[in-house]
Order: sequence, then C-alpha cells, then structure tokens
Amino acid sequence: MINEKIQASFNEQLNAELYSSYLYLSMSAYFETINLLGFANWMRCQAQEELVHAMKFYNFICERGGAVKLAAIDCPPTAWQSPLHAFEEAYRHEQKVTSLINDLVDLALKEKDHASNNFLQWFVAEQVEEEASADKVIQSLKLAGDQGGGLFMIDRELAQRVFTPPPEGQE
Ligand SMILES: [Fe+2]
Ligand SMILES: [Fe+2]
Repeated sequence: MINEKIQASFNEQLNAELYSSYLYLSMSAYFETINLLGFANWMRCQAQEELVHAMKFYNFICERGGAVKLAAIDCPPTAWQSPLHAFEEAYRHEQKVTSLINDLVDLALKEKDHASNNFLQWFVAEQVEEEASADKVIQSLKLAGDQGGGLFMIDRELAQRVFTPPPEGQE
C-alpha cells in the first residue's frame, strides 16, 4: 500500500509524463509542418515512449493499492523558431523531469517506501539516457548546422528511430 503523499506525488508525475508525451507530439507536428519528417518521426517515437513512462506510474499506483487520479494536461507550445530551439526545449524539459524524479526518490526515502524507491530507480537511469539523446541531437545541429545540407543529413538519421513497445509484463 502506498501512503497518501506518495500517491499524490506519483499521480502528479503520471500527469508530467503525459505532458511530456503531449509536448513531443506537438514538436512532431511542428516538424511535419516544416517538412522535416525524420525529426517528426523521432519526436513521435519519443511521444510514444513518454506514454510508456506514464503507464509505468499508472500500473505501479494500481499495483500498490493506490488510486489513479487523472488531471488536466497542460497545453504545449505549438511552434518553435528552429529545430535547434525545439531540441533545446526538449533538453531543458528532460532536465526538469530529472529533478522531479530526484524529488520523488527523496520522498520515497523519507517515507521509508523501499518499493517505490526501487521502482523509481528505473527512471533515474532512464533520465540519463533521455538527457543524453536530446543533447546528442543538439550537438549534431550545432556541428552540421540548423539549415541546408547538414539539417537534411540529420533528418535522414532521425528517420531511422523506431519505437519498440516494452515486452509484455514489463510495461
Ligand atoms: Fe518520461
Ligand atoms: Fe528513453
């Protein structure tokens, strides 16, 4: 059984993961409008991954006898000045999510909820990957350029990303 404080914070994080999905889907739509379909694909995969994160919280709350409470999801921005600006926002957003996860770990330890702490460690590791993958694209954009041939090259690379749903029982 999870306590009230953990339940409330986990429900907030469930909402934050859904917002992440919304944000990346909105970025995907933006890339569609400027005909960068590889970028759009990358963001669409990222949006799907965020839904998996949200469902991990959903399932964990249920499994521990808690109550899932869904709240309104904030409206994400719909346009960015450039691909670089969009990825810089994605990177900043992931840094914010990392600090939210760290706060949840602090709370779980304070409440002596070891099962929650153990569950959260997956997210601690995942956030390292999330920040690194957004930063990798930022570095490519800075190196190859935010327009022209360099941008086209990165677009082709980002078109390769495939979303793989988690294996059954691990979602
Ligand atoms: Fe996430
Ligand atoms: Fe990831």
